[in-house]
Amino acid sequence: MDSNKSKRIKSDKKIQETYAPILEAIKRSSSNGGSIQFHIPGHTKGVGVLPDFKALLDKYGAAALDSTDEFENIGTLHPPTGPIKEAQELAAKAFGAKESFFLLNGSSIGNMALALTLIKPNDKVLIGRNCHRSIVTGMIMSSANPIWIAPKKHEKYSIWGEITPQDVKNQLEANPDIKLVWITSPTYEGIVSDVKAISSICKSYNIPLIVDEAHGCLWNFSPKLPTSALHLGASAVVHSMHKTGGSFSQSSILHVSKDSIINVEKLKHNLRLLHTTSPSILLLASIDAARAYLESESGKKLIDNAIDNAMYVRQELKHYENVHILSNNNDFKIDPTKLYITIDGFSGARLETILKTEFNIEIESTTDYGFLALLNIGNNFNEVKYFVESLKKIATSNYHDISYMEKLKFMPLLTPTIKMTPREAFYMESEKVSLENSVGRISSEIIAECPPGIFILVPGELITEAHLPYLRKYKEISVLKD
Ligand SMILES: Cc1ncc(COP(=O)(O)O)c(C=O)c1O
Repeated sequence: MDSNKSKRIKSDKKIQETYAPILEAIKRSSSNGGSIQFHIPGHTKGVGVLPDFKALLDKYGAAALDSTDEFENIGTLHPPTGPIKEAQELAAKAFGAKESFFLLNGSSIGNMALALTLIKPNDKVLIGRNCHRSIVTGMIMSSANPIWIAPKKHEKYSIWGEITPQDVKNQLEANPDIKLVWITSPTYEGIVSDVKAISSICKSYNIPLIVDEAHGCLWNFSPKLPTSALHLGASAVVHSMHKTGGSFSQSSILHVSKDSIINVEKLKHNLRLLHTTSPSILLLASIDAARAYLESESGKKLIDNAIDNAMYVRQELKHYENVHILSNNNDFKIDPTKLYITIDGFSGARLETILKTEFNIEIESTTDYGFLALLNIGNNFNEVKYFVESLKKIATSNYHDISYMEKLKFMPLLTPTIKMTPREAFYMESEKVSLENSVGRISSEIIAECPPGIFILVPGELITEAHLPYLRKYKEISVLKD
């Protein structure tokens, strides 16, 4: 064998021995360290991480600190003991909850645990149709019979909005055997429902209200932000601390409110049922650190900066007639740090591409008409100024949007035809069919675009022609066997 070939085989072998595709992908993406990010995770490259925690990570490195509970005298997550228990208690105090529980596997696991705790088989549950897919998973696990409530549709922006108290009242009058109301507020784009009015309606029916507040974990730390549902009568709330609170991905908190009617012991049992038995110390520490930072004076200043930065963007773009930013109005209030922006003549996907390729700016997500940018605690003013200047350039330049007419429909603003409960469908035999052949069949899977994880179809729903524009990227759909 020639020596070159032998060298090549050796080096190929070496590459193969150590080849780890995720690692390679991380290496590639971190080589673009200069990108400006307005998205989750909200700590934005570590800037929004408690300096003390960051120093610890810098000094020892993640690998040296990695461990699970039971070791290092940090206590246990289930049952909560030692420093973990203390950290959860401090979180409950900071958020004004009766009890708070740290979640690994995100708010998703909190939603599932709540479903198992509050729903008995065949219970009717009133749920906002714009909920996250983890709530449907909870419906399957608990054998719920979901009654969907449609939020307001804001066609101008192509997004779901608030759930109105009147709609909740109407549904409860029509279905007096509903056992639980579950809404999402704020929406992904920041629209806030009137939780106070909805909770007082729920109280009059003596049923709990759960609010998925995954995107609102900063609210308790600034009077300039909306009031958390924890203080407006909700029985429980989930917060994805990793989304905007500065903790690491997949770390969240589930709070039970002070006047909650939830059986907390049962909830604890179900959290244990669902959680890993090897909780990561780093993730737990990151929740603890995020809580400590948000409560501190310097953390509060970061939140103030995020709000001011968002206000600056709104102010600067106010006079551009072709630029529209979702804002407070007579129908609903918003979380001001979330900038949902449309520019006339552009699809969201096109705007995302221009921002990324021309300006090296990464945003959170897109819809048919616009995009969402999160002004996070980890963003500084220079970044925000650059963002504004970039948007001004886009708004005043002639960027041709060739894809605008053929945009993929994104946000499923559809009324479902329900054939059976999600759990009934879950246990039936299924098969894959082509998209064209799926019309008239019953879905056997949750089809949801992430982010934000709002579904197009859940198991047990009829697939109709109206679904097709939203499903164009799926070659096959899983349906129930005839
Ligand atoms: C409204 C809502 N609830 C819950 C979740 C799930 O949160 P996590 O990613 O923390 O599991 C999401 C995630 O996008 C969400 O948008």
